[in-house]
Amino acid sequence: MNVRMLLVTNLMCFILIIPEINCFLYVEYHDQIDFTHVNITRGAIQDVAAIHIASYLEPGKYDVVRQNASEIIRLYFQKNPQAKDRYKIAVNEILQGLSMGERNVQQSPKYTMNNEQIEEGNRYLNEKRSLIVSLPIDDHQLLTAIRLQIGQFIFTLQDFYSNTNWIEIGGGVLNSLGWNDTLGFPVAQANQSTCKDCTEPSAK
Ligand SMILES: *[C@@H]1O[C@H](CO)[C@@H](O)[C@H](O)[C@H]1NC(C)=O
Ligand SMILES: *[C@@H]1O[C@H](CO)[C@@H](O)[C@H](O)[C@H]1NC(C)=O
Ligand SMILES: *[C@@H]1O[C@H](CO)[C@@H](O)[C@H](O)[C@H]1NC(C)=O
Ligand SMILES: *[C@@H]1O[C@H](CO)[C@@H](O)[C@H](O)[C@H]1NC(C)=O
Repeated sequence: MNVRMLLVTNLMCFILIIPEINCFLYVEYHDQIDFTHVNITRGAIQDVAAIHIASYLEPGKYDVVRQNASEIIRLYFQKNPQAKDRYKIAVNEILQGLSMGERNVQQSPKYTMNNEQIEEGNRYLNEKRSLIVSLPIDDHQLLTAIRLQIGQFIFTLQDFYSNTNWIEIGGGVLNSLGWNDTLGFPVAQANQSTCKDCTEPSAK
C-alpha cells in the first residue's frame, strides 16, 4: 500500500472523527494514483467517504472486497443527487485548501518540510490539527473554513513524506507527525549531510 495514501486516509479518519473505524485496516479501494497532492488527496477522501458509507450510513449493503470506493460512492449518491453535489463541494473545498497550503510556502519552508525545517513543520501541523479539531462541526457556516484548513494541513503532511528521506530510510507511517510537538527522534541539523555523495560514474 502506498504510504502517503495510508497516512492521508488515517489523517482523514482522525479529522473527520470517525473513531469506531479501524483506520489502519481497510481494503485498498482507490483508483490508480499519479502522486500529485490533488490526486492523492482526492483518492484518500474517496476512500474515507466509501468507508463511512459502507460502515455507518448503509452498513451491510456493500461488498467492500469487490466494490471499489468510486463504485460505492456512485451507488450511494445515485438516489440523492443533491447530496452528491454537496459532497463534491466538500471535496473541492479541501482541494482548494491544498492550494492555499502551497501558497503558504512563500512565507516559510516549514510548510513544505524543507530546508531542515522538519521540526518547525511538525509543530505547525500539530497546531493546525488542534485548531481544526476545536472548530465546531455542527456549525454549517464554518464547514468551508474547516475544509480549507484540512486541505492546508494535508499539503504539509504529504510534503513530509515527499521532501524528507523518511521513506528512503524505511520509516513507514509516522504516527507522531502532526500529533506531537516532538517527533520522537533526532532530526538532522541544517549543516549535516543526509545524502550520500554520488561517486559512482553511473550515479545521477
Ligand atoms: C471501480 O468499479 C467500477 C464498477 O465495477 C469499474 O467500472 C471501475 O473501473 C472501477 N474503478 C477502478 C479504478 O478500478
Ligand atoms: C488520479 O490520477 C489517475 C491517473 O491520472 C487517474 O486515473 C485517477 O482517476 C485519479 N484519481 C482521482 C481520485 O482523481
Ligand atoms: C506523543 O508523545 C507522548 C509523550 O510526549 C507519548 O506518550 C505518545 O506516545 C506520543 N504519541 C505519538 C503518536 O507519537
Ligand atoms: C552544525 O551547527 C551546529 C550549531 O548550529 C554546531 O554546533 C555543529 O558543530 C555544526 N556541525 C557541523 C558538522 O558543522
